[in-house]
Amino acid sequence: VRDSVQAIILIGGEGTRLRPLTLDLPKPLLPVCNRPFLSYQFELLRRHGVRDIVLCTAYGEKVFKKTFGDGRGHGVRLRYVHEASPLGTGGAVKNAEALVRGTSLVFNGDVLNAMDLAAFLRFHRTRKADATIALAPVEDPTRYGLVETGSDGRVKRFIEKPSPQEVTTDKINAGTYVFEPSVFRRIPAGVVYSVERSLFPGMLGNGTRLYGFVRRGYWLDIGTAEAYLKAHDDILQGRTPFSPAGRRTGTLWLEKGAKIDRRARVEGAACVGQGARVEADACLRGSSAVGAGCVVEQGAVLDGSVLLPGTRVGARAKVIRSIVGPDSKIGRDAVLEGAALGAKANVPAYSKA
Ligand code: GDD
Ligand code: MG
Repeated sequence: VRDSVQAIILIGGEGTRLRPLTLDLPKPLLPVCNRPFLSYQFELLRRHGVRDIVLCTAYGEKVFKKTFGDGRGHGVRLRYVHEASPLGTGGAVKNAEALVRGTSLVFNGDVLNAMDLAAFLRFHRTRKADATIALAPVEDPTRYGLVETGSDGRVKRFIEKPSPQEVTTDKINAGTYVFEPSVFRRIPAGVVYSVERSLFPGMLGNGTRLYGFVRRGYWLDIGTAEAYLKAHDDILQGRTPFSPAGRRTGTLWLEKGAKIDRRARVEGAACVGQGARVEADACLRGSSAVGAGCVVEQGAVLDGSVLLPGTRVGARAKVIRSIVGPDSKIGRDAVLEGAALGAKANVPAYSKA
């Protein structure tokens, strides 16, 4: 990938489907295997030599800046553009126009993505496309943007959130695009505008060269609680080219100051964050993540679950396929299954939820 290519990442969504987790933290900052989610996108870009990144924020601009700053800690150069009120995906892209030159990559900020960006850019350039959309096959396209292409790859239809009757292909918009400067010029400035509902449909059948590139490699939109847990499982089980935070020993990743009692058991794969503690006879099962500063007390079981920072799981409690928000307390002998608890939750001892 040529050095001149810049990336724009859209991170201004509200993350409504991941509430309550996104009430306190924007979705792109949610820890995934103890790393802020966006760090995986930075890693993908960096691996392809793209270091110049514009982040388009609409909510939580301050916390993004506080977490990533100028990007140096992640080996990238970050610049920010902020929308006082959300302008939609198209409005956000338009806002970044003045900060980029030439061909740009555009990313939805909530996709765990391991595609070959060099192949993507090559495809785009060989076809002299104005814009190219990366496509992924999914089982149920109704939750996504459906993209129908001709045999030459040219886009014939783009339908955002199609009804079941409109589904004619399994290919959907994977949330990664290549845009030429002419595409930015098509977007009106200062108004709410959607890439998916206005820009792409408006580029069809009028001589504009809009192409679809069937991508390969890992792909997951982490926007629901199930997907968020699946992202952990896939990373911990080595189904992605990414790694959890921390030092690896076998199937366990430990960050600085994390302590696992010798009599604790790790069955499966787990990552344990900075200063977290797992006590004797506790068990980490399935694929689980223990956030920074968490405590898993004696005999407690964590099974396919994620604890956000500062949470304490009481003695003998069981947390199964659940996500527990930061700074929460699960009382002793409580059992949680399939739960998604927000920040500072307090579950009394012996509760079942
Ligand atoms: N800056 C900014 N401003 N960003 C926004 C805004 C906005 O007003 N609205 C949404 N975004 C960001 C979100 O933060 C997210 O990273 C991305 O744009 C996509 O928004 P979502 O709300 O997550 O959309 P979706 O998941 O329903 O659908 C989109 O992604 C699918 C793939 O995951 C669409 O692009 C679909 O066509 C696509 O298939
Ligand atoms: Mg999404």
